[in-house]
Amino acid sequence: MKLNIALLAGDGIGPEVIDQAVKVCDAVATKFGHDINWTPALTGAAAIDACGEPYPDETHEICLNADAVLFGAIGHPKYDNDPSAKVRPEQGLLKMRKKLGLFANVRPTFTFPSLIDNSPLKRERIEGTDLVFLRELTGGIYFGEKGRRDGGETAFDNCVYTRAEVQRLAKKGFELAMTRTKKLCCVDKANVLETSRLWRETVQAMEKDYPEVEVSYEFVDAVAMRLVQWPNSYDVLITENLFGDILTDEASVISGSMGLMPSASVGSENQLFEPIHGSYPQATGLDIANPLATILSAAMMFEMAFGLKEEAEAIKAVVNKSLDEGVVTEDLSGKNKSYKTSEVGDWLVANL
Ligand code: IPM
Ligand code: MN
Repeated sequence: MKLNIALLAGDGIGPEVIDQAVKVCDAVATKFGHDINWTPALTGAAAIDACGEPYPDETHEICLNADAVLFGAIGHPKYDNDPSAKVRPEQGLLKMRKKLGLFANVRPTFTFPSLIDNSPLKRERIEGTDLVFLRELTGGIYFGEKGRRDGGETAFDNCVYTRAEVQRLAKKGFELAMTRTKKLCCVDKANVLETSRLWRETVQAMEKDYPEVEVSYEFVDAVAMRLVQWPNSYDVLITENLFGDILTDEASVISGSMGLMPSASVGSENQLFEPIHGSYPQATGLDIANPLATILSAAMMFEMAFGLKEEAEAIKAVVNKSLDEGVVTEDLSGKNKSYKTSEVGDWLVANL
């Protein structure tokens, strides 16, 4: 099969972890007889430096013409402490999600048997955790009108949702729940927020179309607590953009490292695969970042974008093997020997 993939390495450790994912994907392609055509393109601070724009039109064209996009990370510290910066790398990511129509961000949380004791949470709480967040990705407070008034003394960010936006996300949630344990949790703050009441009302109205799915409605603050207390009680969770951003970082603690968690951002036309972690600027160029979240995102890409399940399983299996054998970067090595980013990539290729 011919696979056309746009390759957006982005900033910070993005290029380093993307390099490892490319090595692993190429090795999988060779093993299974596929032909990958990678088209690199600029995003984030790297794109601002090159042309003043964090998601250039040329990059958008490349993404539109690809079958899938593999993305590294975005963000650069020189923008973080400059509130007056006119363009920011993160705007590139948001623009990309919006322009590609990637309204659903699929963020699984699971444990790796050999890493259970890496989590700060107790083994008996997290063993067997296997849940998936569906985070709405192109609406809510991230995209509502924002600004200043009163001569700059007051700032506002509007949170806006339409019923149609909630429906299309919830539909994916119900469908996913049907393929799993048929449990769906709608996470909101309906005791306070009008947008949350729209979410709840919309999801409630859809329940009749999926009679087998058991739906629960929980407030986001309570979910934040239960997620680390009893993560096993959840299966599929659907939620709005900001709640999903926060809860999925929290959930990554269950797996033992944020450097492990992959994600897929999907819409009706395009699909993008990205680790949930950021650009980890302090580690840039040091060859120490964990490449597994990106490599597992590539596994999701094989399965979801190309329907190549065996290829995805091969990647997951070799990743598990590397964890079992302690071939891990410093975030996971504890007192044991740690491997460089590139060494982990090479080991995975050699052991596929
Ligand atoms: C993520 C990131 C982004 C987000 C940032 C970099 C804009 O934290 O993908 O979770 O908030 O969505
Ligand atoms: Mn985030």
